Amino acid sequence: MEWVTRKGCGSFTKRLETMTYTGKRILLGVSGGIAAYKAAELARRLVSSGAQVKVVMTQAAQEFVAPLTFQALTGEKVAAAMFGPGSEPLEHVALGQQVAAIVLAPATANLLGKMAAGIGDDLLTTILLAANKPILVCPAMNCEMWAHAAVQENVARLRARGLTVLPPEAGELACGATGYGRLPEVETILEALARLVSPQDLAGRKILVTAGPTHEDLDPVRFLTNRSSGKQGYALARVAWRRGGEVCLISGPTLLPVPYGVERVEVRSAREMLNAVLDRFPQADALLMAAAVGDYHPTSCAGHKMKRGAPELTVHLTQNPDILKEVARLKKQQVVVGFAAETRDLEAAARRKLEDKGLDLIVANEVNRPDSGFAVNTNEVTIIGRGQLPTRLPLLSKEEVAEKVLDQVAALLPAAHKSKGV
Ligand code: PMT
Repeated sequence: MEWVTRKGCGSFTKRLETMTYTGKRILLGVSGGIAAYKAAELARRLVSSGAQVKVVMTQAAQEFVAPLTFQALTGEKVAAAMFGPGSEPLEHVALGQQVAAIVLAPATANLLGKMAAGIGDDLLTTILLAANKPILVCPAMNCEMWAHAAVQENVARLRARGLTVLPPEAGELACGATGYGRLPEVETILEALARLVSPQDLAGRKILVTAGPTHEDLDPVRFLTNRSSGKQGYALARVAWRRGGEVCLISGPTLLPVPYGVERVEVRSAREMLNAVLDRFPQADALLMAAAVGDYHPTSCAGHKMKRGAPELTVHLTQNPDILKEVARLKKQQVVVGFAAETRDLEAAARRKLEDKGLDLIVANEVNRPDSGFAVNTNEVTIIGRGQLPTRLPLLSKEEVAEKVLDQVAALLPAAHKSKGV
C-alpha cells in the first residue's frame, strides 16, 4: 500500500470564492522592478475579490508602470511622494495602520535591504516603519541577486521579525537568465495574503481533511468509483489553512491541484485512505471526512486486463472498513465531522450516521438538486450537531460551506488544548 505526499505551492488558477477580501482595505506597495507590471493584475484581482486597494509606489516603480494604471484599476489616487503636490500630511504613518494587511509586490533587493536596515527614505519605506499590520513580502529580481548572501540575510531578518516572505518562483527571467527570481503567480499571492487577513481561530491546530472518491480496482485498467470531484474537501482544506490551521488533505484521485500551504497525501482505495487517516489521526485536532468512500471493493482484483467473454459477468464485492468507525475507537479530544450525501430523508438519515459513527457533527448534503453535491461548485447543506438545532444553510459556494462548517469545528475545539508537537 503506497501513498504520495505533496505540499501545495500554489501553482493553480482557482479563484477565491469566499468573502475573504470583501470590504478589507489592502495596501499594495510596488517597488521598481520589471515585475511591477504584474502588480497591476494583483491590484485588479484584489478589487474584483471585494478589497479596497491603496497603491503606494516608489520612484523607481513609476519608471516601469504609470501610477494612472493603478489609479484606474483601484479607483483610488496612488500615493508616491512624501512631500510636495499630491502628498497628504501624516500619510506616512496613517496608511500602514488603517489597512487589514500590506502586500509588497514586487519587492526589489533594494527595498528588502532598506526594510532590513530600518531605513525610511521615501513614502513606502516610511509607511513600513510605522505599520502595525501583517506584511506579505513578494520579492522578484534577477536570480543572482536573489541568491546573494546580503539579500538572503535581509530576508532572514525580515522573517525573524514576523514578516511573511513569499519566495520567488523559478523560471525564465526578464533579464534572460533562468532561475529563482520570478514574482509568484497572482493566485499564490492572493492565497498567502488571505491567511494574513483571515481570523486565525485554527492557529496551531492540526486539521485532517479527506476528499474525493476512492478507486476500487477490478483489474489493472478498471475500477469502481463514484462522482465525487473532491471540490468540497479541497475547499475545507483551503479555508482551514487560511484560518491558521496546519492542514493535511488525504485525497482520493481528483484532477484538483494541491491547495496552497496544504500537505496532500494521495491515496486510491478506501483501505489506503483508512491507513493514511489512522497514521495522522492521533496527532490531529479535528478530522473532517468529506470523501465519498467506496463501501465495497471487488473481492479479487484480476492480475491482467479481464477479457470480454460471457454475456453476463458476476463481480463479488467485499465490504470496506468504515473509516469513521475505526477512528472513533481512537478518539480522544479530537472533533470528528462526517458528511452524508443523501437523496431522501436528508436530516433523519444524517442523524442516524451521526449516532452510528459516534461523530461530533455531520454535514447533511442535499444531492437531489443539480447545483448541489457531487462535482459542482455550490452546495446546500444542513450542519447537525449533538443536542442542538440543525443549521440549515442556503445554496452557497463550497468555500462558504467550508467556512460555516469550520466555524462550528472551531467552537467545539477545546479552548485550552494545544496541538501535540508532531
Ligand atoms: O467531492 P465533491 O464533488 O465536491 O462532492 C462532495 C460530496 C457530495 C462527496 C461531499 O460533500 C459528501 O457528502 N461526502 C460524503 C459522501 C457520503 O455520502 O458518504 P456516506 O454516506 O457513504 O458516508 C458517511 C460518512 O462516512 C462520510 O463522512 C464518509 O466519508 C464516511 N465513510 C464512508 C464509508 C466508509 N467506508 N468509511 C467512512 O468513513
